[in-house]
Amino acid sequence: MPRKKLIAANWKMYKTPEQATAFFRDFLPLVAGHSRDEIAVCPPFVDIAAAVTAAKGSNVGIGAQDMFWEKEGAFTGQISTAMLRAAGCTHVIIGHSERRQFFGETDDTVNKKLKAALAAGLTPIVCVGELLQEREAGLTEDVLRRQTVNAFRGIGAVESAPITVAYEPVWAIGTGRTATPQMAAEAHRLIRAEAAKAFGEPAAQALRILYGGSVKPDNATALMSELEIDGALVGGASLDPKSFTSIVKWGM
Ligand code: 13P
Repeated sequence: MPRKKLIAANWKMYKTPEQATAFFRDFLPLVAGHSRDEIAVCPPFVDIAAAVTAAKGSNVGIGAQDMFWEKEGAFTGQISTAMLRAAGCTHVIIGHSERRQFFGETDDTVNKKLKAALAAGLTPIVCVGELLQEREAGLTEDVLRRQTVNAFRGIGAVESAPITVAYEPVWAIGTGRTATPQMAAEAHRLIRAEAAKAFGEPAAQALRILYGGSVKPDNATALMSELEIDGALVGGASLDPKSFTSIVKWGM
């Protein structure tokens, strides 16, 4: 069965609630009735309420960019999965390379967050990807294998069903340099092989693996036409309603 593609926006630290509302006012009419691909937008935490209100009843899901694995407690600054669900989120990004680079995210915290997101019924988007130095040193496969195996640790085949992985080579993020569809497909095959070891072949065949890193309107069709690429995680080009629409409607 073909995997339905997910085109997800990661707004990172951009837009106020008012700007989020304005985005949806322009964006929703442009993608109204689009059902070929699943669409999600992940704004900053403080914009989630505005985004959920604006997107209510539409074909666009709202997600968070991070979460904490504990249910509640003295964890200043953290947001739980129950809070995200109550706020109307359906998706959550876990282990983005910027969180790994700047905020101490590790393979172990990614695993804890992934388990908590699954338990809460959120669709997790788990990010993996190698640094430029790692690619140049021929370590891409080792890094992807390590990140994937550790993320999936202790998760069963049945529970794994909602997991989505995003392959985001760090050297392609925000740089205008994209992996070629062939490079991405090769990485995706490796990730899928690891998923098969962890969850079995049927679950691995159903697993969606997105590509992220300088996805733009002019390269989206080439990337999304690749059978191994099950969608996109889009940063910069998702901030503008028209440009994100062109990516959602790749090839149309
Ligand atoms: P850019 O699309 O801005 O390169 O960002 C990619 C990304 O990190 C999405 O999570």
